Amino acid sequence: MKTPHILLVVGGGIAAYKACELIRLIRKAGMTVRCVLTDGGAQFITPMTLAALSENEVFTTLWDLKNETEMGHIQLSREADLIVVCPATADLLAKMAAGISDSLATTVLLATDTPVLAVPAMNVRMWQHAATQRNVAQLRGDGVQVVDPDSGAMACGEYGPGRLPEPVAIMAEIERALGSALSTPPAGGRGEALRGKRVLITAGPTHEPIDPVRYIANRSSGRQGFAIAAAAAEMGAEVHLIAGPVHLPTPPGVTRIDVETAREMAAAVDVALPADIAILVAAVADWRTADAADQKIKKTGGALPVLQLAENPDILAGLASDPRRPALLIGFAAETEHIVAHAQAKLARKRCDWIVANDVSGDVMGGQNNAVHIVTGQGVESWADLPKDQVARKLMEKIVDAVR
Ligand code: CTP
Repeated sequence: MKTPHILLVVGGGIAAYKACELIRLIRKAGMTVRCVLTDGGAQFITPMTLAALSENEVFTTLWDLKNETEMGHIQLSREADLIVVCPATADLLAKMAAGISDSLATTVLLATDTPVLAVPAMNVRMWQHAATQRNVAQLRGDGVQVVDPDSGAMACGEYGPGRLPEPVAIMAEIERALGSALSTPPAGGRGEALRGKRVLITAGPTHEPIDPVRYIANRSSGRQGFAIAAAAAEMGAEVHLIAGPVHLPTPPGVTRIDVETAREMAAAVDVALPADIAILVAAVADWRTADAADQKIKKTGGALPVLQLAENPDILAGLASDPRRPALLIGFAAETEHIVAHAQAKLARKRCDWIVANDVSGDVMGGQNNAVHIVTGQGVESWADLPKDQVARKLMEKIVDAVR
């Protein structure tokens, strides 16, 4: 395999010093690294430090005649296999999300089609601010891999999510991102089977807020949906995974969009269309509270609060009647009795092509294994109890046969 080239964009934050350790790890892993240092970053570390550690020239400005003739900002991004933004400040994330190019770093990021991995670090309030969360969701939707920050005590004295992950953890993300950026699957093998196909997957539960501290949810872990996303990406598909609130790593090569509620999931599915294949694995909450309270609901001496519910949009049924309906539309059915009969009714009601039905009366939700029945217009196939990743591969193989 050729030597991977990393372009490291170092933003302005106290965590910039950790970029120095990251450079050491990147080089130790046999990769080359070039650095772009923002003005903010230069308040924390010097170009000299980065040049010495990377043993490469460091780029700081868009307005450098010499560099623009020798190596312009376009070439700087194009020669890299992966661009890593670390630390990615709230400001950099906002500019990336908005497509602003007012510095060398932001121009490089806008002028590239190279995969980008952003590693945010900032104050907890800045991270949790709706604007930052909106920008992160936008970037993930655009295909940027945004690493979740660590939680803990921060340099500013506050506590919570926002800390830069440790350099070894960032290095693992880089290797994972490069794995998909550089992998060239064997021709004709499983790696080619879904090349050129766009696959949309929903996974996990949804959370429907009751008030700022409580929500309606279910026991879905997201494991089956994530395993299907991984299997589809292994087969070369362009995978868009819309995930409810779960604690699972993003499979290599998968574009992930995190959502919380059913309505957010429906909106994210709409944005991700069109797709050739859609597999809706998510255990979407059927109901939300009609009117979530703005403040925590308090006990009021005996009178029980009444939760007025409203029905959530049915994403699967909506997709079935959408003009952009994927050529192959697959739903899941979580049932506790009359599994196949209920799945057959669901197939007809939701007008999808297949239903993958499973018995969730045991510990399937959150568990490692799954015994499924594939219900189609042609009949029912029942598979033995298998680990979820094997169910995923077997399902993807069946899908390949169907779309070939
Ligand atoms: N589904 C969806 N949107 C919803 C509810 C379900 O897209 N609001 C999808 C699920 O992702 C799954 C399929 O529909 O692919 C079946 O989900 P399930 O919860 O089993 O079915 P429900 O429609 O909720 O039917 P019921 O609760 O009556 O069994």
